[in-house]
Amino acid sequence: MLEEIKKTAADIQNKISFTPEVGIILGTGLGGLVKEIVIKHELPYGEIPNFPVSTVEGHSGKLIFGELGGKNVIAMQGRFHYYEGYSMKQVTFPVRVMKMLGIKTLIVSNASGGVNAGFEIGDLMIINDHINFFPEHPLNGKNIAELGPRFPDMSEAYDKKLIAKAKKVAVANDIKVQEGVYLGLSGPTFETPAEYRMVKVLGADAVGMSTVPEVIVARHMGLPCFAMSIITDLGVEGKIVEVTHAEVQEVASHAEKKMTLIIKEMMKEL
Ligand code: HPA
Repeated sequence: MLEEIKKTAADIQNKISFTPEVGIILGTGLGGLVKEIVIKHELPYGEIPNFPVSTVEGHSGKLIFGELGGKNVIAMQGRFHYYEGYSMKQVTFPVRVMKMLGIKTLIVSNASGGVNAGFEIGDLMIINDHINFFPEHPLNGKNIAELGPRFPDMSEAYDKKLIAKAKKVAVANDIKVQEGVYLGLSGPTFETPAEYRMVKVLGADAVGMSTVPEVIVARHMGLPCFAMSIITDLGVEGKIVEVTHAEVQEVASHAEKKMTLIIKEMMKEL
């Protein structure tokens, strides 16, 4: 795997000379951040050796290289989900490559279902911790010491300083943000009412199908992480209604302006 990561990073570097400081993974309905990036280069996933190709509606699948808030960033427009049939090694491969290219911070966004009774549809939630409920672990198998330790620490999976910066930006711009624990599970089914209840009992505030694998791999390599979720539906007793991917995208597209602003302003403080 190390050879593939190095080869892919070298191939990208040969095509474009660019040193990124920050990697950004854009989740469902959050592609709008791209409009804020002063784009220097774009690489469709299909043109990157060893990259999987995204199969989900609303994820167009390319790496974007450019400037955001004065920082050189790589943004992944379209991420890889476990439910698409990729192995966890494939899901997290782009994070390995971005680290190899030089990123010092990883920023992740997603859409999720809120199970905290205090949440409303369209709320932003800063993820301050996670619970890994995926059936496969991205670090399973022989450890590659050159990438990170066998038993990575996860006591601060989501960087406290980055969380503080995000909150500061939110207050300064009068944006309401929630904060909480994200539980990641495989999907692709949304949760039954009993499963939402379980998620809540387990101590999470929101549930989704992404982010946890990428953050685990980033932490394995020592990268500080920041992640934010748009609460697109509620798994709260009495408020559970039918959920569709179209609605998830719709709510996310409305809330994304707030998230885009927070991330852009945070860049200036990194
Ligand atoms: N559950 C899981 N994933 C999701 C949800 C949800 O309710 N909403 C958006 N992504």
